[in-house]
Amino acid sequence: MRRPLVAANWKMHKTPRETRAFLASFRVKTDAVEVAIAPPFPALAEAARSLGDGPIALAAQNVHAEPSGAFTGEVSIGMLAELGCRYVIVGHSERRALFGESNDTVARKLAAVQGAELVPIVCVGETLAEREAGRTGDVVREQLRGSTESARRDAPERLVIAYEPVWAIGSGRTATPELAQEVHALIRRELRARFGEGAERIRIQYGGSVKPDNARALGAQPDIDGALVGGASLDPAGFSAIIREIEAAVAEESRT
Ligand code: PGA
Repeated sequence: MRRPLVAANWKMHKTPRETRAFLASFRVKTDAVEVAIAPPFPALAEAARSLGDGPIALAAQNVHAEPSGAFTGEVSIGMLAELGCRYVIVGHSERRALFGESNDTVARKLAAVQGAELVPIVCVGETLAEREAGRTGDVVREQLRGSTESARRDAPERLVIAYEPVWAIGSGRTATPELAQEVHALIRRELRARFGEGAERIRIQYGGSVKPDNARALGAQPDIDGALVGGASLDPAGFSAIIREIEAAVAEESRT
């Protein structure tokens, strides 16, 4: 069975001091669920210190594809690896929409992340207009194909996909569990065509207005393997509650 990954995407929130305060009051004890925190770059070192050798993984929100060079304002995978990051979010819809990242850019970032033995969390998802035009399947398939072109075939467990419908991000509108599952199943089929049996080991997170009150039903879906949480991860109590709900979903699943 896949171990769900619940990751906090803090976006452009929290200074190093605020990060320390969050981690001082954030306590999770769970083997059933893996937990990761993605603070902004300036807070990564502080988070690494606070997390120490504990079970919570450190994640970055972005990376540049090149190992070094004249790229003012950018951050390389070597820098993130040295800070102790285990995961790197690539191709978040905000990066695609606001910073012009194409599938090709995302594929090159993915290659850099896997090349350094870190694990990319590759985001895909349709806009409201695309959903209303009945194009969700095509859009997600195309993003997935284009963005994971460079993914290692021999290590499917070193790849995480996050399905985040753009209309659900930060909007308070969550996809229903059934609707999310439909797209997750489509993603799993697509991965099967590329990775064969290995696709069963690839975790597919759901993201978009995940909250304590919807996390359990989402986590109970067969192809939803955790969550990528924005707004609701900024508060330690709220984020812990989401983790407990996903944990409960896993426990229910293993009883059935
Ligand atoms: P949200 O963000 O939980 O605030 O909707 C999720 C994300 O963008 O990763």
